[in-house]
Amino acid sequence: KYVRRPLIAGNWKMNMDHVQGITLLQKLAWTLDDNKHDYERVEVAVFPPFTDIRGVQTLIAGDDLEIVYGGQDLSPNDSGAYTGDISGQFLDRLGCTYVLVGHSERRTVHQESDELLRSKVDAAYRHGLVPVLCVGEGLEVRQAGTHVEHTLEQLRADLDGLDAEKAAELVVAYEPVWAIGTGEVAGPEDAQEMCAALRAEIEKLYDADTASKVRLLYGGSVKAANAASILRERDVDGVLVGGASLDAGEFANIVRFEH
Ligand code: G3P
Repeated sequence: KYVRRPLIAGNWKMNMDHVQGITLLQKLAWTLDDNKHDYERVEVAVFPPFTDIRGVQTLIAGDDLEIVYGGQDLSPNDSGAYTGDISGQFLDRLGCTYVLVGHSERRTVHQESDELLRSKVDAAYRHGLVPVLCVGEGLEVRQAGTHVEHTLEQLRADLDGLDAEKAAELVVAYEPVWAIGTGEVAGPEDAQEMCAALRAEIEKLYDADTASKVRLLYGGSVKAANAASILRERDVDGVLVGGASLDAGEFANIVRFEH
């Protein structure tokens, strides 16, 4: 089924200090090794808190692990008087492959605008990081039935004018906000509906070749019990997992989905 390399990613959010984080990562690596995981077939990524990334880099480099990692955010700026911000340059130098951009928790808690997120997408590429652009609707939009247009508007605004070559590398994570952390997982058909709409929109914005390359993830209460049915959907190329990624065994069971 897979025309694109599946990506199973764990977003630890503000959990796991630098000691807990490398303990979790070590357990995950051992479990995946026990499962004889083929990382070429299915890519595995973790998004730790910034404070953990140096330890993650050291563990992965030291044990030659194939798990990749990224930051949960980045500054639109490269360096300077931006107290508290983290530069994409620093994430790149810490060996990050990916960076989350526009997670719904940052859009809400930090009031991140599409204009700011557009500049963060540029900052990611400027520093050789692949953006994982998070989009998705809240409950009121879902109940109004305007969730597809809402999400496509986010996509258009956050990619505005990005060139096709860069867009082809992109990962987009559809995370219906009402399914995040609630146990209310969107059904496979909901995930497929939105991922198909996102892919069609990317084809309209760019071309069929670009649209065929972009990987689309679903996120929102993904667990081992529901992952396979979501991942089986034609336009779903992976999942972005929050709570379940904090347990090495549960996350490893999501990684080993049957497909
Ligand atoms: O970024 C993934 C996250 O928003 C999903 O959270 O806990 O519902 O898997 P959770």
